[in-house]
Amino acid sequence: MREEKPAEDSQESPCNGIDKPYHVPVMADEVAEFFAGGLNEGLLVDGTAGAGGHLEMLSRALPRMSFLAVDRDPAAVSILRSRFSDNPDITVRQGSYTEIPEIINELGLRKASAALFDLGLSSIQLDDPSRGFSYRYEGPLDMRFDDSTGKTAAELLNGISEKEIADIIYKYGEEGRSRRIAKAIARNRPVNTTLELAEIINTSIRSRRNSFKILSRVFQALRIAVNGELDQLERLIDGLEGWTEVGARIAFITFHSIEDRKIKLLFRDTPGYRQHSPRWVVPGEDEVRKNSRARSARLRMGIRT
Ligand SMILES: C[S@@+](CC[C@H](N)C(=O)[O-])C[C@H]1O[C@@H](n2cnc3c(N)ncnc32)[C@H](O)[C@@H]1O
Repeated sequence: MREEKPAEDSQESPCNGIDKPYHVPVMADEVAEFFAGGLNEGLLVDGTAGAGGHLEMLSRALPRMSFLAVDRDPAAVSILRSRFSDNPDITVRQGSYTEIPEIINELGLRKASAALFDLGLSSIQLDDPSRGFSYRYEGPLDMRFDDSTGKTAAELLNGISEKEIADIIYKYGEEGRSRRIAKAIARNRPVNTTLELAEIINTSIRSRRNSFKILSRVFQALRIAVNGELDQLERLIDGLEGWTEVGARIAFITFHSIEDRKIKLLFRDTPGYRQHSPRWVVPGEDEVRKNSRARSARLRMGIRT
């Protein structure tokens, strides 16, 4: 068995080009193979549909299934609606994946035979300076998936204690220099833009070695905190049994070791689930070469029993 390494977010985006207008789906072949291996009919829920990269592929691979696409981000939902407007088998809804039970109820759908969760953020979100996810472009420090609700990253950073900032950076970014960085942020508040924050971090760590890694970790940590991502994931896991049928195939793509561990425990140790073999899959070298964002991804698959 391979040793588990902490995963790391990448801020390198593969889809800036006109020839790639959408987010490039990670491990799409492996995901399609998993679902197509045991499914023919029924409902497949894509709980983090993003720009619909996986969905497009799955709707082609599984032509007899119907699909529910959910995303928390209203901008992603607009893309999904226009991309799949002529496909009657795909229903799109804006909301968190924690709201899937209510959405299924409201639409009068049956329990799902399959579910996919590709966690984290899309290249489209990362590449939009107005969203504030990237340390590469100047923009407001926002980072909310759903920008109609909740505190922005700037509001969060400017309103909590230095210790709370350090805890976020350490826990969600797995960054050892969390206290030093938190002190610099606290001293230089208010922090309102991405490049202001990047400059504070760079100055605080002094050495430019590994600075991109550190920036990635701090930005990732803030994004996780702003969106309550781990809390959301726990709520999703707690409710999953209620809206998936026995035998359902469930796949998670994670980019962070804390998330990955939760999914490992779900499929390995939770009654009502079993791990599918292989227990996890990572992208091949070729995929990582073409799509640097795939580098830290891990796919875990499980079956409802
Ligand atoms: C990595 S992208 C998915 C990309 C998609 N698989 C594709 O191929 O285009 C992750 C998506 O999850 C969404 N997201 C994050 N947290 C969410 C939540 N709690 N509920 C629903 N969507 C969420 C983000 O807005 C983002 O669009």
